[in-house]
Amino acid sequence: MTFAAHDSIPIGTTLAYTRFFFLRPDVLDDKVRIKLRGIGDQLARGFFNVFDLEGGARDLPPHEMIQFFTLNGHGVDKSANAHVLPATHVVQVTSKYRPSMVDAEKEIRRRVGTLAEVSAIRGAVRTPRYTSSEMYTWAYGTAKPRASGRIASNSIILPIRKTAEWWAMPAMERHQYFYPHRDQASGATVPGHAELGRKAAGKIHRRLYYNPDGEGRAGEWDFITYFECADDDLGLFDETLDSMRDTTKNPEWNFVEEGPLWRGTRSLRW
Ligand code: HEM
Repeated sequence: MTFAAHDSIPIGTTLAYTRFFFLRPDVLDDKVRIKLRGIGDQLARGFFNVFDLEGGARDLPPHEMIQFFTLNGHGVDKSANAHVLPATHVVQVTSKYRPSMVDAEKEIRRRVGTLAEVSAIRGAVRTPRYTSSEMYTWAYGTAKPRASGRIASNSIILPIRKTAEWWAMPAMERHQYFYPHRDQASGATVPGHAELGRKAAGKIHRRLYYNPDGEGRAGEWDFITYFECADDDLGLFDETLDSMRDTTKNPEWNFVEEGPLWRGTRSLRW
């Protein structure tokens, strides 16, 4: 299924739900690895594994999908929460039905038991919100289609929240931060979010998930940003994120609080 700004689906409609589960085992020996692998295989039964799926950048992943990730040498957390031990095993499940997510979470927690600490972040797949037709063509027309996990073997998961000040701004004012614009604070003309992402757009597959219950909720993330790329493009990802963080080029980041960044390998199974 594809979605487009011009489709009859209204802007911001929820199309599916997703959850990422992060597992941090106390001990990771062969016995635990084998057990976790078995749990992953059990979970995968009810879902379509998208490891080898290829598709247009605008295509939604199939409903009832699953994918597995494992920590690799690149799993360095560059964000402010670097003290948090990275999870070794991560799984994402997506479904059109929210109760399926609740069931999946119960099942994961029940099966994992005391083997590992499990934490979850929740998101919703939505049609884009701030995207004008020009922005849509710009940001999605050249966007990197999804490639098999054998090629685009890296994934990066970064939850983000925005400040109360951001959410208090009128939507039209927030919109301008995505375009080249004049920064009201410095008076300088700045490239803004989308222009800074342009080089990466054609190389790095990206997804944006929204908090399914709405924005600005205390203690929750507003977004989960998600990326897939080949080894050769990891440097470009870092460069792009660094430029997003540079508030002289992207004043939007003044309103951003980043969560723990997780980086690992997409895998067919744990
Ligand atoms: C480096 C990593 C990136 C991060 C962490 C990131 C983060 C985000 C976040 C959190 C939002 C939602 C903001 C909001 O609605 O207030 C967003 C939206 C958006 N991003 Fe990025 N982004 C990244 C790279 C890119 C790239 C490479 C492009 C390509 C041009 C891009 C284009 C857009 C567009 C067009 C939107 C608006 C979508 C909408 O209207 O719903 N971003 N991004």
